[in-house]
Amino acid sequence: MGLITISCIKADVGSLSGHITVLPEMMDMMREHLEDAKKKGIIIDYYVFHCGDDLETVITHRKGRDNSEIHKLAWDGFVKVADYARRRKLYAAGQDLLSDAFSGNVRGQGPGIAEMTFSERKSDPVLVFACDKTEPAAFNLPLFKVFADPFNTAGLVIDPKTTVGFSFEVMDVYKHLKITLNCPEEMYSLLALLGTTSTYAIKRIYRKGPEAPEERIAAEVCTEKLNVIAGQYVGKDDPVCIVRAQSGFPAVGEVLEGFSLGHLVSGWMRGSHKGPLMPVSLKDATPTRFDGPPRVVGLGFQVCDGELIGPKDLFDDVSFDKVRERCNEIADYMRRHGPFEPHRVSEKELEYTTLPEVLKKLEPRFKHTDE
Ligand code: F6R
Ligand code: MG
Ligand code: MG
Repeated sequence: MGLITISCIKADVGSLSGHITVLPEMMDMMREHLEDAKKKGIIIDYYVFHCGDDLETVITHRKGRDNSEIHKLAWDGFVKVADYARRRKLYAAGQDLLSDAFSGNVRGQGPGIAEMTFSERKSDPVLVFACDKTEPAAFNLPLFKVFADPFNTAGLVIDPKTTVGFSFEVMDVYKHLKITLNCPEEMYSLLALLGTTSTYAIKRIYRKGPEAPEERIAAEVCTEKLNVIAGQYVGKDDPVCIVRAQSGFPAVGEVLEGFSLGHLVSGWMRGSHKGPLMPVSLKDATPTRFDGPPRVVGLGFQVCDGELIGPKDLFDDVSFDKVRERCNEIADYMRRHGPFEPHRVSEKELEYTTLPEVLKKLEPRFKHTDE
């Protein structure tokens, strides 16, 4: 019992066949690295997996958020795996490790991170979601539905523990500003921000109420923008998200229902295209068609004194087959637009890609016109 921190730290440190997948031995290397830290008592438990070309870690410990020992542990693991990827000439080896040396915190250094400290309940189901080929705001629509839409989450209407509602911390990912809005009373203002996925992303969600934040924390999203940090196109952010479920939070099934649309997100090929976010099992987290379409995997854990029991591969269920079929249909339809918006993202969103270079060459050829 007591306070537990879950740190989900991930990085793309090289992949097989372009930007498609991580090799099993890369995950094994990270597992060995974390097993050693577990034996030394630095961490309580860990789980390693991949979503597309991103190597993902889930680490539990009692050292709180932004702990430099934990961040260094993850960083050193990524450095080891990146060295291996370089030796084997895997693609984009070391891509997300933007600095040569670790500076005390992985934030702003390339890896993505979602970290949550919570007071462990009698039984604590915790879900981890990881995306490939998309950005943090991909979670805006599903998390809004899960925590604010009674047509998605029955508990918002019929469970007295959740009818109190949730508060959303929203980030302006470019200006590093944040605002907190309460639902249901400020729902329209919240949507006014969340709908602008190019600028605003949900950072944290709390259940409203008098308890301590560690009791009420419900969700935390990784909002690092890789290209903003690097100042140029490096790859997509491919965010992770932690959600607590059941007994005062939405049920696991209500959380998963939030991903049942196959909603359009930015990312996909060259981080420059809109496409459907396809919920898949771990074995299908290998985006190949046009480097996509974007994927999300979901892992269901029970946390027991910090130990991670599980996971259950949450989208490995036939009830998501229809969503996946729809995503494939949407992908077909979107692809037929080729280089045209809205399949291709807007000029503003292409700021950090190579498109400005292409456009610059045309600049001298523009002439004034009266028409
Ligand atoms: C998207 C992604 C890929 C690459 C694309 C071109 O996040 O990583 O779609 O952008 O494969 O890659 P490069 O420029 O490395 O040839
Ligand atoms: Mg990659
Ligand atoms: Mg990726």
